[in-house]
Amino acid sequence: MSAPAPTVDHGERSLEDVLRAWDGEHAELRHDHASGAWMFVCIHSTRLGPAAGGTRIGVYDSPAEGLADAMRLAAAMTRKLAVADLPFGGGKAVLAVREIPRGEKRRRLLHRYGELLDSLGGRFWTGPDMNTDEHDMDLLPYAMVRSRKGGGSGSSAPATAAGVLRGIRASLNHALGSADLQDRVVLVQGMGGVGSHLAELLVEAGARVLINDLDAARVAKVAARMPVEIVASDRVLGTQCNVFAPCAVGGILNERSIPRLRCRIVAGAANNQLATTADGERLRSRGILYAPDYVINAGGSLHGIGLAALSWSGAELDRALNRIGDTLKALYRAADEDGIPTSEAADRLAAARLAQAPERGPTTKSANVDALAPYSTNRKEQEQ
Ligand code: NAI
Ligand code: PHE
Repeated sequence: MSAPAPTVDHGERSLEDVLRAWDGEHAELRHDHASGAWMFVCIHSTRLGPAAGGTRIGVYDSPAEGLADAMRLAAAMTRKLAVADLPFGGGKAVLAVREIPRGEKRRRLLHRYGELLDSLGGRFWTGPDMNTDEHDMDLLPYAMVRSRKGGGSGSSAPATAAGVLRGIRASLNHALGSADLQDRVVLVQGMGGVGSHLAELLVEAGARVLINDLDAARVAKVAARMPVEIVASDRVLGTQCNVFAPCAVGGILNERSIPRLRCRIVAGAANNQLATTADGERLRSRGILYAPDYVINAGGSLHGIGLAALSWSGAELDRALNRIGDTLKALYRAADEDGIPTSEAADRLAAARLAQAPERGPTTKSANVDALAPYSTNRKEQEQ
């Protein structure tokens, strides 16, 4: 890939334009004067319960681009949680920063963001996403994925990767007639929390694993630990493989990139991989099987919500992760029967689940909020 594609092409749209075009329930916008960052909390739907979704820290070309990313990610959470059968609605937060903060600056920014989450009083529950992890969640109220030291279940990335692996097996089975990974070639883009775990699981399963990241240090770290081959960023799209697993940015499957793909399957963790809905059909007409992102990457949500809000055991989480493969199989069959893109089959399933749910207004109430009480304050407050 020559350059990372934007998630959405916003042109010169303003914050106001982006807000006006949104179909979600509520957007909370803050400018953080101390750092110059923008904080966006987008609650797309509370139809199935209080909203849940990750907090992403990112550098964007404009505040409007950060807001639009949060909105699109929040809408994907609504569909993800509906398909995964979790009693939460969809939301997402973006902290649009000038540069990714570290150390004391980061701690202070998260503290101020925590005040914003507090003011929402449980209408939005969060977890990690790009550039945030379970240690950041320890500093926040209404955060479900805490570090083990912070009394939580630890990083959600291994569960996300485990879910993606099951999804890759289901996809191989559908496209190539066998779920066996031995000697299959899988290209993993993004060596962050999820991508590096996925690479490890794939190596263990006998696959030939190709890896890529914009950050050379991350690639080197993974390559030092396991037998993988490194692919340069400008070679990702043209590299022949059985499975391309995007585990970095969104919008990478688009009008320009799809004709260049040389894989049979796209199955990875990145959110909002399709730049537009038309890209689902573009993949289908090229004969590329696409695992809808919000179906295959539900493992982080199953981990966060399952363990914290639903008090699941490890075995229950494992069974829920297995269902990712089952859901994909059913979607692939439905898409084949109806002659539609797999992304459309997933959207139909999500819409049907949402339509079945009883009407409810924005609320903090859910059958499971009691179990979440310890997570509603940050770790420091709990220790006092
Ligand atoms: P992370 O922040 O730990 O890692 C992202 C990695 O992608 C970094 O190493 C970064 O250098 C790399 N990267 C960024 N742009 C790139 C590009 N254009 N080409 C190649 N590499 C690039 O993020 P994490 O948590 O691993 O998440 C990855 C993706 O999976 C994101 O889209 C996230 O929204 C999604 N996801 C994450 C879940 C989780 O549990 N962490 C759950 C579900 C989805
Ligand atoms: N990043 C996760 C996702 O996109 C967000 C998440 C993690 C939400 C854990 C809730 C709990 O699915």
